[in-house]
Order: sequence, then structure tokens, then C-alpha cells
Amino acid sequence: MENKKRMLTGLQPTGVITLGNYVGAIKQMVEYQEKYDSYIFIADMHAITMPIEPKKLKENIRSLVALYVACGIDPNKNKIFIQSENEYHANVSWMLECNTYFGELSRMTQFKEKSKKNANFSCGLFTYPVLMAADILIYDTDLVPVGIDQKQHVEIARDIADRFNKKYGETFVLPEPLISEQATKIMDLQDPTKKMSKSSENPKGIIRILDDAEVIRKNIMSATTDSLAQIKFDKENQPGISNLINIYSAVTDLSIKEIENKFANSQYGEFKKEVADKVIIKLSEIKERYYELISSKELDKILDEGRDATRKIAKIKYEKMKEKIGLIR
Ligand code: TYM
Repeated sequence: MENKKRMLTGLQPTGVITLGNYVGAIKQMVEYQEKYDSYIFIADMHAITMPIEPKKLKENIRSLVALYVACGIDPNKNKIFIQSENEYHANVSWMLECNTYFGELSRMTQFKEKSKKNANFSCGLFTYPVLMAADILIYDTDLVPVGIDQKQHVEIARDIADRFNKKYGETFVLPEPLISEQATKIMDLQDPTKKMSKSSENPKGIIRILDDAEVIRKNIMSATTDSLAQIKFDKENQPGISNLINIYSAVTDLSIKEIENKFANSQYGEFKKEVADKVIIKLSEIKERYYELISSKELDKILDEGRDATRKIAKIKYEKMKEKIGLIR
């Protein structure tokens, strides 16, 4: 255990997770947990950087933990916890914020995109990447598996760590993003130039892990394609078909080449039907385990253990930072 590299990642409980989250994040975690000392948490404090109803948030948190486990995240191989149950994250974040520049946060792509959508955006949306840096740096994380959209946030965490180390002496491990080649970005079915997102305005563009089979089928069958009539991976000219190929690949583990060959003589309709069938089979296995877990005591036990273990570790880093900064009596 001790010699393994440490890996940490988080997901926001902002909605029922999508196939994009599964393919982009959770699926990799299931593979990595065999290799790394793994931490996985619910980024619920990140979720309040955008408007969210308290009741919904509460439901989403529990649901997400159940989904993690249902998707194969093994509590015996991971520390699974809720960010807000570990007060050191916010405390460490504040100390890091005071060592982060306004300018560098202003350049974050996600901030620019999200702040455009809501004129009354909060300061929390602006400092979001620093809290994320705290999540990562507290545990001396080596590797952070994320989708490509979060790469910039891991890079800024590294910059903040490096700056802190130079200013106050060795304190943090410099983390690296871990972006698997298979961790393809799954795009919106209706607008394949946009990533599939839990918070998408158009429900037809997304597949949620817990969606009914009919909804999944309907959404895939009505996915945007093109008029080229060939099943070919070409993101530039065939973004819709390429997205469906990625989805098919993620649920069958066939390579893109194998998929192109398999469907070389197929019509779009036939291909879509096959994609829908395979997605439905994959997700039904996950759903079954989810419903077993959601109201079980097992889930609370997992979270209690995760909270206790991570608070202990986080406290040490927190005290060390305070001392280095001079926050001492
Ligand atoms: P969240 O919940 O928005 O996204 C969770 C993970 O899913 C990836 N992802 C996707 N990957 C491929 N295709 C998609 N359509 C897609 N949509 C989402 C994201 O890249 C991410 O890896 N900021 C993080 C949460 C976080 C975190 C952390 C992660 C907070 N602190 C510390 C790692 C380490 C986020 O965006 O979550």
C-alpha cells in the first residue's frame, strides 16, 4: 500500500450523473483502484458554486455515493468521502487562496464559461479551482484522473503547490492530471460540439445512468448525425457519429477501428439501435446494484469510515501549513 502512488478524484453532486461522467471519470477509477492508493469524494462544496436547491443537493449526494459503488468503486480499495464532512478542505483552501493570484483565476476557462451564464455569479465560482487544489494537495496526491475539461484545474493546483513550496518550504507533492486515452469526452447527443453535461438544458442530449431504457433508446435514436452515411470516426466532419462510436466503444470495450469495421456496411439507424442496446445492457447492471444500496446502512458505514480516515490525514497537512505560514499562537 505504502509504495503505491496516490490518486484522488471527485465528482460534483449537481445532478444524476451522465454517461459522460461514467466514461470520463468513474470507469477509469474502477481500473485505477487496482493500481493506486485511491481517494474518491463527493465535491458537494463545489456544487454550491452554482445555484442548487438544498433538497436536491442532499438527494444527489447520497445518490452519487451509491452510484460510485454501483459502478464498481470498491470501498475496500478506496477512501470514499464527502468533501463537506471534512472541514480541512475549506480551511486549507483559504490558506491557498491567499497564495493565488486574481489574474490566474480570471483565466480559467470553466470560470469564464460559467460566469457568462449567470450575471450574479458568486465569488465561490471564481475561487472554485483553489478549493479543488486544496482537495488534491491535502493528501499529497500524485495523480488526478479527470476529464480533459478539468485538466486546467489540475495544472493550476500544481502551480499553487509549487509556489507555496518555494515560498514556505517543501509542503506539497506536485500533482499531475491523469487523462486516460479511453477517457474520451462524451458529447451532447443533440449538440455534439458541446460536452454531455449533467446540467444540460436539453434533456434529449444526455443519458443519465438511472434513465429508463425507453428514454435511453429514444435519446440515442434521435441523436444528431450527418448526411455522409458512413460510420467513420471523424470528429471534425462527423461529430455526432464519432460521439456514438466513442459511446459504443466505452460500453463494449471494442476499439474505434473494430467498430468502424463492424459497421462498415450499416445504416445510421441500425448502428444507433446497436449503440442503444449495448448502453441499456451496461446501465441496467449498474442500476440494479444502485437500488440495493441507496437506502442501505452499508452506504453510511462506507461514508463514516471515509470521513474518519481522511480527516485524520488532512489534519496533519493543515497543521503543517498553519505552522509554515505563521498562523500560530
Ligand atoms: P464534475 O462532477 O463536473 O465532473 C466529474 C468528472 O467527469 C468528467 N466529465 C466528463 N468527462 C468526459 N466527458 C464528459 N462529457 C464529461 N463531463 C464531466 C470531468 O472532467 C471530471 O473529471 N471539478 C471537478 C470536481 C472536483 C475534483 C476535485 C476532481 C472537485 N475537486 C479534485 C478531481 C480532483 C468536476 O468538474 O466535477
